[in-house]
Amino acid sequence: TPINCEPLKQLIRTVPDFPKPGILFYDITTLLKDKAGFAQMIDAFAAYYIDKHVDLVLGIEARGFIFGPAMAYRLNAGFVPVRKPKKLPAPVAKVTYDLEYGSDSLEIHLDAIQPGQRVVIVDDLLATGGTMQATVQLVRQLGGEIAGVAFAVELDFLKGRDKFPDVDVYSLLHYNE
Ligand code: PRP
Ligand code: MG
Repeated sequence: TPINCEPLKQLIRTVPDFPKPGILFYDITTLLKDKAGFAQMIDAFAAYYIDKHVDLVLGIEARGFIFGPAMAYRLNAGFVPVRKPKKLPAPVAKVTYDLEYGSDSLEIHLDAIQPGQRVVIVDDLLATGGTMQATVQLVRQLGGEIAGVAFAVELDFLKGRDKFPDVDVYSLLHYNE
């Protein structure tokens, strides 16, 4: 059974009205700086994926980079950055996705994934799911197989999980408001 991370919520700072009025921001920096707290998060991710034959961990810029490399190390997998536009030097695949206002893009090196490789994608937060959905598209374009998508925090009430009916979604912590 997966590790219960619920006690780690005590280490998360809530900031009302950030980044705008009415939004309650869950600030994980207070959890990350706690050595036992950070270790437990990586331990939980590692325990969940250790038997799932993961070849690569993909981190989504920027906050996915906090977890991806530590997970890859523990899973004996490689790490691949999924980056904001124009940051990667070699040929890329690009995906554009909708935001509340406007759109954003993510890129991955074309040679980052070999067809059939098993990939876990990690990010700090599952909100609407748009960012992760775009990244899932990139992985599939390159012929990768999604072993799962992982989040530190999931905002259940936004139902982002519904965007991934055919993908295993694992979040350490859940919030309902
Ligand atoms: C935040 C967060 C996730 C995404 C979640 O990233 O780190 O990546 O939004 O939202 P969604 O599920 O509605 O797509 P942001 O784009 O703010 O950039 P950052 O990670 O570079 O800070
Ligand atoms: Mg992000």
